[in-house]
Amino acid sequence: MNRILLIIGGGIAAYKCLDLIRRLRERGHHVRVVMTRAATEFITPLSVGALTNERVFTDLFDLDDEREIGHIRLARDCDLVVVAPGTADLMAKMAGGHANDLASTILLASDKPVLIAPAMNPRMWLNPATRRNAALLSADGVTFVGPGVGEMAERGEAGPGRLVEVPELVEAIERLLPTATMKDADGLLAGCHVLVTSGPTHEPIDPVRYIANRSSGKQGHAIAAAAAALGARVTLVSGPVAIADPVGVLVHRVETAAEMMEAVRGALPADVAVFAAAVADWRVDRAASDKIKKGAQGVPKLALIENPDILKTIASGRSGRPKLVIGFAAETSNVVAHAREKLRTKGADWIVANDVSHDSGIGGSQSGVMGGDANLVHLVRADGVESWPEASKSEVARRLMIAAAGAIGKSNKGR
Ligand code: CTP
Repeated sequence: MNRILLIIGGGIAAYKCLDLIRRLRERGHHVRVVMTRAATEFITPLSVGALTNERVFTDLFDLDDEREIGHIRLARDCDLVVVAPGTADLMAKMAGGHANDLASTILLASDKPVLIAPAMNPRMWLNPATRRNAALLSADGVTFVGPGVGEMAERGEAGPGRLVEVPELVEAIERLLPTATMKDADGLLAGCHVLVTSGPTHEPIDPVRYIANRSSGKQGHAIAAAAAALGARVTLVSGPVAIADPVGVLVHRVETAAEMMEAVRGALPADVAVFAAAVADWRVDRAASDKIKKGAQGVPKLALIENPDILKTIASGRSGRPKLVIGFAAETSNVVAHAREKLRTKGADWIVANDVSHDSGIGGSQSGVMGGDANLVHLVRADGVESWPEASKSEVARRLMIAAAGAIGKSNKGR
């Protein structure tokens, strides 16, 4: 049974949570509820408790609660935290790391995935402060569903800000819940060292300019986090990214492909190595030591040379090759065919292939794979191709690490 912690925020749409709870329980999920003080102005803890069939938590300083269960346990004893309706105030508290009531304290203390279903007046949703908070929360790995667009409770107000309908919310929740196989996976990689590269590299042109690419590091970082969650010791070699370090992972920060190569060599031996970084293929042969000026010389001509291929070097290494070497293939056409070719030329055991073209439609029309939160991958091995359904980058990561554990002979069967 999956355990969902539902945090109900103070908005007119809070009433939809009553139906949400019923639907989730009908589908066999356990639902525990925390309400903000404002939420209790819209629906009562009594009616919520009657539907969950257990106590509803509202107050941080209720000593009974602290003795019985405590806010830290509330935050951790679940598979997923759902915030609905996600008010502008709750979003601001989450983005700022505030902990001045039970809901915000739980959100700060939790190490579980968080899904937020925003609901507020369209002007509040479009306000630059809320836009900033939404961007910060996305970068921190919070998943958003909605808001929907339409009429507001206030007369004459319409636009983005409606809580999504209950069936859509249930679907989003179930997409983030671990499957039974995943739940079986606890401690699966205990005793293993997993090495992951992530993010782009920056190749200097002169002291102020560089060659880069659009990699956000989200998929690589999610793989490091997933490996750590399965009990592995994890080393993450990361290019320059704007996202937070995964918890419980040793992070080496690098700028260039050459630095990444050196850090990877220094981190070996490893049982599993995952090369998720979007390493720049070329660097400027001789980066200028002074800033290149416009003018007399005309447009500068950059002489490029090839960077070391980190994946290929490690996969073809004679001694100390990791038991399982996984590469990525970011393609914009003929995804699987190109990935098969990379499997062969790079000497990897597996290639995780994904379509990074803008019109792939993955993750919604605005985000795309690079920088977005969703991914649709094909796992290409010498013996065949497995196409996985579109999923969040964290789910793809967890599934990949469970498969990796199986491949190196780690399983929880019989434990
Ligand atoms: N890779 C690497 N070092 C490089 C280039 C790529 O380790 N210098 C790794 C990436 O981390 C990824 C895989 O190789 O796991 C494929 O990278 P990709 O850029 O898709 O392929 P390329 O080899 O660069 O080929 P192309 O750009 O022609 O598609």
